Amino acid sequence: MNRDPLDPGSLGSLHGPVPRHIAVIMDGNGRWAAARGLPRRAGHQEGMKAVREVIEGCAEAGVGILTLFAFSTDNWQRPEEEIHALMGLLRLYAGQEKEELREKGVEVRVLGDLSRLDEATLGSVRAIQRETRGGARMRLNLMVSYSGRADILGAVRAIAARVREGVLEVADIDGDAFASHLLTGSLPDPDLLIRTSGELRISNFMLWQFAYTEIYTTPVLWPDFTQADLREALVEYQRRERRFGRVPSS
Ligand code: FPP
Repeated sequence: MNRDPLDPGSLGSLHGPVPRHIAVIMDGNGRWAAARGLPRRAGHQEGMKAVREVIEGCAEAGVGILTLFAFSTDNWQRPEEEIHALMGLLRLYAGQEKEELREKGVEVRVLGDLSRLDEATLGSVRAIQRETRGGARMRLNLMVSYSGRADILGAVRAIAARVREGVLEVADIDGDAFASHLLTGSLPDPDLLIRTSGELRISNFMLWQFAYTEIYTTPVLWPDFTQADLREALVEYQRRERRFGRVPSS
């Protein structure tokens, strides 16, 4: 069959394994804006279009879980104006999209240290989670005020508390028990990490969960990322041989 790897219309007809879980570091919004002489918030705003494209594309391709790094704990150190713009976009997104996501069967969860969010943003987060609950087609995790190290520390504290209460034996702390205390809970680890804008870093994202994740990077800046770019990432993923530390299969 003659397939055009850049044909975005064929995301639903990819031959070969499709990742169950994709994580994305959406990088390059600031550079996209700077290249046009625009304020950084304009890059984030444009990045929302790519967010919609990728959610749509993943659902079409049959990806079960999509995890987007929307705001890291380090991002709290950005200028007040930019934080304000990003929180505004989160509220706007939650308000505008919850109906459509519910209809499409996308269940949204917002994961991170939500105690740092203002009341209005927290209200929007609760509403989108409530109204999309039970969506069975795809799970969308928006990682907000999230860092991998904080996630691991949170799990360690929760486990220590359960041991102290006498409900968990030290000998029973295995990989699955540990992972179940992370914010991603019982979800399978990401099969594929996509990072845009050409940076080669994990940036304190899902440090435990990425143990065997395939990493795909592209120079494309996040606001320019399209379903054709997503398809390219999926085609590249299908070329990889996943070995999980074992010898190649013959
Ligand atoms: C990184 O680009 C991107 C972010 C810190 C925010 C990502 C947010 C969005 C795409 C919009 C909000 C998303 C949702 C789902 C509500 P950068 O600013 O670090 O870019 P730079 O490295 O070029 O400066």
